Amino acid sequence: MDNRYIGMFDSGVGGITVLKEVIKALPNEKIMYLGDTKSFPYGNKSKENIIELTKRGINFLVNQNVKAVIIACGTATSQALDVVAHLFNVPIIGIIDPTAYYVANNSDLRKVGVVATSGTINSKAWENSILKLNPNLTIINKACPLLAPMAEEGWIDNDVAKLAVKEYMKGLNDVDALILGCTHYPLFYNLFRAELKPSAEIINTGTMVASFLQNTFNSSFFNHSSPSDIKIYLTDTECNFINVAEKLLQKRISRIYKCELPLVFNQNNE
Ligand code: DGL
Repeated sequence: MDNRYIGMFDSGVGGITVLKEVIKALPNEKIMYLGDTKSFPYGNKSKENIIELTKRGINFLVNQNVKAVIIACGTATSQALDVVAHLFNVPIIGIIDPTAYYVANNSDLRKVGVVATSGTINSKAWENSILKLNPNLTIINKACPLLAPMAEEGWIDNDVAKLAVKEYMKGLNDVDALILGCTHYPLFYNLFRAELKPSAEIINTGTMVASFLQNTFNSSFFNHSSPSDIKIYLTDTECNFINVAEKLLQKRISRIYKCELPLVFNQNNE
């Protein structure tokens, strides 16, 4: 039994879609969430920059004594997970592998769409991970660079959001499944749904991460002894994070902690 927090990390509010699924599946867990709002957006930054920011974010959480870190960000998973995975002495879990495994083993699927940030799409991480497991699938990628900034603003169901999703979905309307490869995108679930055939499945990476945790760790990993909790840290609090997060979680967030991510990577964790 381990009553320490699970760390979770994103550039902003998107990772809250993962947090929501994890607390639904594991309601006893304590989660420490870090939103690097000061450096948002990650989606258009260089790989070197993403690696550095991801190291700093994970380092912050590891220094708070978390028992594992979930990179609840497609951009950081696609570009930094392979570099950071072995630098820390706790398990580091990204959003791509658990989802790729599900998709590759789902025999109903032939054509799969992936929508994500430009950085994620350019990295080819989704198609590489899925096709390695199942080379018979057809993967169609689409970068949707405007959506994460719109989600941070809470523009998730207005006319601008509708038009943007419609435009980005051109060429993807007939897929059998659509992977929301950026954790901000479940906020646009209804708009994506409207652009797909009724039988198409929309894949939320948060659900995949939650089942991965349930299936991978045994009872000694989970908290059985102390009350569940959610602690949120942001690197900049001058943003709309709290409104969007409260809407997503459908509950009030009583406190947000402001934090700094140390500039120099702590070599002790290597
Ligand atoms: N939620 C993130 C992702 O999954 C980041 C979006 C961004 O910062 O541009 O890619």
